[in-house]
Amino acid sequence: MARIDYLDVFFSVQSFQEEELRGKSAVIIDVLRASSTIVTALNNGAKKIIPVEDMDGAMRLARSMDQDDYLLCGEKNGQKIEGYHLGNSPLEYEQETVEDKTIILNTTNGTKAIKKANLANRIYVGCFLNQKSILKALEEHDDAVVLICSGWQGRLSLEDTLFAGSLISKMCGGTLPENTKDGVKVAFGLFEKFGDDLERAIGSSDHAKRLKELVPEDDIPFASQVDKFDVLPGMKDGILTNLNG
Ligand code: MLT
Repeated sequence: MARIDYLDVFFSVQSFQEEELRGKSAVIIDVLRASSTIVTALNNGAKKIIPVEDMDGAMRLARSMDQDDYLLCGEKNGQKIEGYHLGNSPLEYEQETVEDKTIILNTTNGTKAIKKANLANRIYVGCFLNQKSILKALEEHDDAVVLICSGWQGRLSLEDTLFAGSLISKMCGGTLPENTKDGVKVAFGLFEKFGDDLERAIGSSDHAKRLKELVPEDDIPFASQVDKFDVLPGMKDGILTNLNG
């Protein structure tokens, strides 16, 4: 069981150094929307997901692959990138679209956080949709755990912090021991305050407001569902697959 006194939370891609993750288990969180998209795509049969940091990386990779095998996907500032097959709405990743495909995914913060976690011992991608799978995976090892909220361009995101708090709350059975890190207390406290109505809390976040004009409204209620999918995205050699598959 991951020990709560070894747990830490980072609140943006910029708030940690790669070296700080060495030997630890990392859960990368981007509720709106990269984590929710990754979990949905793997649930719906995508073969693998290759997160990339930027457009150049995405194009290079795409050029090296057979056109029938991959989908080039992602967003910049919330909007689908011109020429890409899909944007970053989990609802686009339906079975008939993604089954047996390799997804090359390029997003503003989420995929950068995943790439930056490369020194961690284990790398998982989590969100409310696959909460139970994440908790189960963390229970199986006694590594120190870091919950990495992707945030938005260096800023904290409410929805990511809320999910970190939800995990912490389940891990400690609802009562936080005194000897925890500040980030753990903050995430737990936020979940205590807003966790009763996730859809409302997530819908009130800065990023939900940012997305309002850009993406289908359904993305918010979809990403607010708990334990919808039994999927555990895990990273090996730069590739995410479903470890529960
Ligand atoms: C990100 O990586 O910042 C996102 O997932 C943004 C989004 O598409 O909503």
